[in-house]
Amino acid sequence: TERTFSILKPDATERNLTGAVNAVIEAAGLRIVGQRRIHMSQAQAEKFYEVHKERPFFGELVEFMTRSPVVVQVLEGDNAVARYREVMGATNPANADEGTIRKLFAQSVGENTVHGSDSAENAAIEIAQFFTDADIVG
Ligand code: GTP
Ligand code: MG
Repeated sequence: TERTFSILKPDATERNLTGAVNAVIEAAGLRIVGQRRIHMSQAQAEKFYEVHKERPFFGELVEFMTRSPVVVQVLEGDNAVARYREVMGATNPANADEGTIRKLFAQSVGENTVHGSDSAENAAIEIAQFFTDADIVG
């Protein structure tokens, strides 16, 4: 079993879709073993997306992620990192497969409803940014 880090982004909370997204996550066999609703500060968002800081959309991305509350999650399951990337669908919802979260709910490449870690190594780093061990209950 493996853990990954997930964020239900502001476009999900604004449209009251957190339960609908969680239903897709759970139907895919991933367990939500940690979950908290927070409003990210600018510093938190900049740190979280630091790898993208040279990209032209970085400012827009930080503004989006701090616009409304988000739900941060720890998901657990077999091959959770790869499995969740599958369930999320392509970054650009226009390219996302049928039945994926981004195909079902996302509005644009920027406002694409969810984040999921891209490796087990990054998952551990990202989980540690938002959760202590006591707040993850498997
Ligand atoms: P994450 O799970 O959020 O990391 O998405 P990803 O791994 O599918 O995409 P990537 O890491 O390449 O980009 C991170 C995030 O930046 C995306 O999820 C989008 O929210 C945003 N992003 C990526 N490309 C663009 C773009 O061209 N324009 C805008 N506005 N945002 C973008
Ligand atoms: Mg990414």
